[in-house]
Order: sequence, then structure tokens, then C-alpha cells
Amino acid sequence: MELKQQAIEILRHNDRGGYTVPTASGLYPAQWNWDSCLVALGLAQFDEPRAVVEIETLFRGQWPDGMVPHILFHGDDSSYFPNAAVWQAGPTGRSSGITQPLVAATVVRHLFERSSDPMIRARLTALVAKLLVSHRWCYAARDPYGTGLVSIIHPWESGMDNSPVWDDALAAVEPGPSVAHLRKDTGFAANEHRPTGPEYNRYINLVIKFRDNGYRADRLYEISPFRVADIGFNAILQRANQDLHSLLAAIGDAAGAEEVAAMEERTSDAIARCWHEEDGFFYGVDTRNGAVIRKPGIGGLLPLLADPEVTARQPRLLQRLDSWLTRVTYGVPSFDPGRPEFEPQRYWRGPVWLIVNWMLIDGLRRNGRPDLAERIRRDSLALVERSRFAEYFDPLNGAPLGGSKFSWTAAMYLHLAAD
Ligand code: DGY
Repeated sequence: MELKQQAIEILRHNDRGGYTVPTASGLYPAQWNWDSCLVALGLAQFDEPRAVVEIETLFRGQWPDGMVPHILFHGDDSSYFPNAAVWQAGPTGRSSGITQPLVAATVVRHLFERSSDPMIRARLTALVAKLLVSHRWCYAARDPYGTGLVSIIHPWESGMDNSPVWDDALAAVEPGPSVAHLRKDTGFAANEHRPTGPEYNRYINLVIKFRDNGYRADRLYEISPFRVADIGFNAILQRANQDLHSLLAAIGDAAGAEEVAAMEERTSDAIARCWHEEDGFFYGVDTRNGAVIRKPGIGGLLPLLADPEVTARQPRLLQRLDSWLTRVTYGVPSFDPGRPEFEPQRYWRGPVWLIVNWMLIDGLRRNGRPDLAERIRRDSLALVERSRFAEYFDPLNGAPLGGSKFSWTAAMYLHLAAD
């Protein structure tokens, strides 16, 4: 069967009726926020209405304060830890209590602009007000002092769970009791491809702390022992601001568009200030102690996705990307391959993720580098040809890693192959 057809089969197989699980293996038996949004890009290639349903289902789980949780538990979640019974979060007790990168507006804009069907456009228009509420929540809850950079309070919020970028900030979190006996992920994926025991103990200790504080956004910002203004999270948010602005303008909501323009302006200046002249890279900040996090993770390349004007002033950023690519067979590694923390097989400490490749491809085109964008697109397609639809890939030899028959890898393949 040809690869496109295989990708479609995976997305259909992982469809649980209104939402798509990241993989059917049991590793992730629920709806993940950014997985779902990015999966919608692939669904749109063969079933536009189903793509819209994916986002509608996600936003049905939006909390009254505007947060869209990082996980919605719809069905049997017994193969996952921490499941709904551990989180005990949200109005229905069927979600996590933290968020994930705000890619939804970017995806909704994409769906809106590619569709000529008035029914689809009407349904997407109905989502725009919810998107605006979620961006408002993000700034109010995670940038209460108006710096222009929002903070994440858990590594899981970045989506890049065990990136070396979090090592120091996470080390400051009490480990809490060991949860090794409760973990289920290592039953589905190899231990050495997953976060370590000490990391997991801290992830869960943070969850317990948030649960004990009733998931009240105002309290969590102050009490979380992990708080980072991550450059990747903010770059994705900034791009989503631009896309939300465009959607609001398209549907004639001038007041909403003006409100988002103010968010954009603040964040654009703040991202520009994240440039580190000596290292020639964009870094985030540990907002608990003000320390700049001098760890070259892939999030530091994501300003390309957000702000071509800012990145055009920093040509050394593309030299860094070039130098990463010369050290690997398949781009783009999720961490600088020249650094000692680089681990080519361990989750976000080095492997290639097609969803980030898609963001960089888009950003490089906006930055006038279609040649580099095409190199990354070719690498992405070649990884799938070599290793099928793995969760992530070894940048040195292209080996498949993590879960298999992964929804967002299938979605990115469809999206990039049609490009
Ligand atoms: C996990 O369980 O590994 C997820 O990445 C958390 O969102």
C-alpha cells in the first residue's frame, strides 16, 4: 500500500469518534491538545469536516477560565499514568490541569483559508471566539506582570517534556516519592527512548502540587517551583497570535483584532530580547530566578515560525541550523547535536519530530530560505519512507523511536507530501 494510503489508514484507525488518539497502542489513550490540532492538518487532506470536528471536540473541553487542557480523557484511560483519577482536574474531572503549546489558531486559520465550503467556514468562525478566550487566558494566567513572555509551569506544557532545556529548572523541583511502579509508558516504548525516573518523579510531584492548589491559575503561577518563559512556547504563541489576528479581521471582529494586535506587539519585542548575542541563539528564561537558559534546544529556532522581522536581523540563527544539519543524516534534531546533553534516541533530547520540522519549514519559507525548507521537507518524507510512522526518529540513522503508527507523524506526512 502506498504511504499516503497508509497514513490515512492510521488516522482512521486512531479515530475514536470525534477525536484522534496519538497512537492506538495504549501509550496515549486520550486526546492530546497539540497532537489533535496538528492531526487536523493531516485530516484536512482527505476529510475536511472531520478535521474541524477534531478542533471542535478539543474546545468542548475548554475550561471556564479559558484554558484548553493538554489532555482530555474521553474513554478508558486505564493504560495511562497519570490518568483522570490522578489529575482530578477541571469542571468534569476528565482532563489534565495544565495546557500545551497554543497551535490551535494557526491550524484553524489554515483550515479556514483552504476551504471554500461555507458550512466549514461557519463552523471555524464559531471557534474563533473560543480561540480568543484561550489567548486571553494565556496572557492573564502566565504573564500576569505583562512582560510579553508567558511562562510554562510544567515541562509537559512545552510538549517537549524532557528537553535538556528544562534540566536545571526541573532539578530545583523536589522529586517527591518514586513513581517508577506506577509508570505505564515504559510498557509501551523502550525505557531508553523515554524520560528518566527522576524526571518522572518530579513531573508527578508538580501535578500533585497543582492538584493540592485546586488548579487555580493565579495561585499556580506563584507557587509552581518550575516556571520558565520558554522561547519555543512563546514563538508558537506569537505565530498563533498573528493567525488569530488574521482570522478576527477576516470575520469582521475589529475589537478582537485590536486586542490580539496588542498581544503581538508585546511578545514581538520580548522575543527580540531573547536573542543572546554571544551565543548567537534565542534562549528562554527561568522566571523563578531570572536566569537565561543557555541550552540550544529546537525551541530556540522557532522564532523563525513567528517573527520573520526579528529573525531577519539575526542571520547567525540560520548558520546554527546549518551547522546542526551537517552533524546529522536527517534533520532537524531537537537539541544541538554538538552538545554533551544530546541523546539521539531519547524523546526530546535529540530525536527528530516531524511536527517541529513542519513549523521550521513554514518559518524558513517566510524567512526567504525555501532551499533549507526543502531540505527539511525531503528529510521528513525520507524518514517516513525508511521507518514508517514512528512517534520520532533518530537523526543519525533514521531509526524509528517511541510509539508506532503515530497520528501526528501520519498527519505531517500527508500535509508535507501534498505541499
Ligand atoms: C506523556 O505522558 O509522555 C506526555 O507527553 C505528557 O503529556
